[in-house]
Amino acid sequence: MNIIEQIEQTAEFLRGKGITAPEVGVVLGTGLNALAERMEVEVSVSYSEIPNFVPATVAQHKGRLLYGTIAGRKVLLMQGRMHAYEGHTFQQITFPIRVMKWLGIKTLLLSNAAGALNLSYKKGEIMLLNDHINLLGSSPLVGKHLDEFGDRFPDMSQPYSADLCDKIKQIAQSKGIAIHEGVYVAVLGPQLETRAEYRFLRMIGADAVGMSTVPEVIVGHQMGLRCAAISALTDECDPDNLQSVNIEEIVAVAARADVLLAEIYSQLIALC
Ligand code: HPA
Repeated sequence: MNIIEQIEQTAEFLRGKGITAPEVGVVLGTGLNALAERMEVEVSVSYSEIPNFVPATVAQHKGRLLYGTIAGRKVLLMQGRMHAYEGHTFQQITFPIRVMKWLGIKTLLLSNAAGALNLSYKKGEIMLLNDHINLLGSSPLVGKHLDEFGDRFPDMSQPYSADLCDKIKQIAQSKGIAIHEGVYVAVLGPQLETRAEYRFLRMIGADAVGMSTVPEVIVGHQMGLRCAAISALTDECDPDNLQSVNIEEIVAVAARADVLLAEIYSQLIALC
């Protein structure tokens, strides 16, 4: 089966489960689940049941696809994502985004847990992505090109929708939520960075670092989806004063930012 046949097979399976008219796609990152709790869920399917999906292996990820209503809109929500560091290919981890597009979404909202490289950004705060740097070492678009997906050489001058970014900032302001803005750099992981690596990532102009999101945005943008992404800043990456962190702490701090993110995204969905 080629990839288009796989996408159609998966889309057909999900339509059969009742996922018929999603408008907005959402991907929730590590430790981030508050938006899912605000959803009136109609359909819930485990990734392991979905043909051609690879299961999410990260313990902090639920690995379920939810379909239902948030703020009056039909939303298809990934409760946990796949990462390249789990050993999946970039094509596998972005496959769900292609399926969501096939099912009809027009807008893709993503979230992630990330380390704060910009030292005026603090853990527990959130950052709107206005650009990214791909240091994953590859691209989900490597390989045979299919015109159905869009351009072979997609423009990346503005992968994050300026309109969605403006709306996010307005919503945050109206709710009194402080939101930073900046450049997200994606690295493969799964190990966190050394002091020398954090120093390097700061020098090249990144404000936050994480292990996801960029592949999904590349694929979503290639297919013409309007994309936006917000990071929950979970640790402070000061190379000259680096505190050791572990994934449990990262998840605990993400929980603090989680409600802010859910507050903003639910209002944004109403405007989509
Ligand atoms: N580095 C990479 N990924 C991360 C970090 C970090 O410091 N924090 C949360 N995800």
